[in-house]
Amino acid sequence: MAKDVIIACDFSGRGAVMEFLDKFEDKKPFVKIGMELFYAEGPEIVREIKARGHKIFLDLKLHDIPNTVKKSMAVLSALDIDMCNVHAAGTKDMMSAAIEGLTRTDGRRPLLVAVTQLTSTDETRMRNELLISKQLDEVVMHYAENARDAGLDGVVCSPLEAGIVKTRCGAGFLTVTPGVRFSDGKADDQMRVTTPSRARELGSDYIVMGRPITQAQDPVLAYERAIDEFLG
Ligand code: C5P
Repeated sequence: MAKDVIIACDFSGRGAVMEFLDKFEDKKPFVKIGMELFYAEGPEIVREIKARGHKIFLDLKLHDIPNTVKKSMAVLSALDIDMCNVHAAGTKDMMSAAIEGLTRTDGRRPLLVAVTQLTSTDETRMRNELLISKQLDEVVMHYAENARDAGLDGVVCSPLEAGIVKTRCGAGFLTVTPGVRFSDGKADDQMRVTTPSRARELGSDYIVMGRPITQAQDPVLAYERAIDEFLG
């Protein structure tokens, strides 16, 4: 199974992201494009970064009726992305429809992972606003199992949850984990952080790192450090 470091390219526009990627010259890191950049620049930014030779995780977190998600996924799949995601809260039917939409005529498709509960949703909000009375951990694991049952490749989760996700859903079920920081770096707004080497020990398949690389004085050096620590 391929393990890799994915750089969260949380930039507001084309100029900033290209200036950042230019620093890498012949290196082609796996990058994550989120809503901010995608909504600012549209699908052309995905085509342009792909044409430069990068793998792309398109982080748009789809959540709608199955038919709409299926058709939207077909559009995203045609962009030749490598990974994308949906909200597991959309149900197994929606997740299966997403896979159908993503699958290309040759039978191949990008990896599809699910967001279980957003890390910004705590147990109190879940109980009082969403009327979900189970414990947060239990909800996260149940949604992960739904994603596996629907045929998805994995989930986005904390590195601290990677081991239990694999126990419940199988060793081959991918864990894509943000919340990673260097041991001597700052946590920013991430609550529970883990280092790249600890994330490896815990069983993460892909770590997602944004600011420790994008805001570093030398982003290429920071990326190489993340690769060294994570891949060992
Ligand atoms: O800059 P930083 O390393 O905190 O970036 C982490 C990236 O992962 C951001 O793009 C953030 O939106 C995303 N993410 C996260 N926590 C989640 C899901 C996604 O930090 N639970």
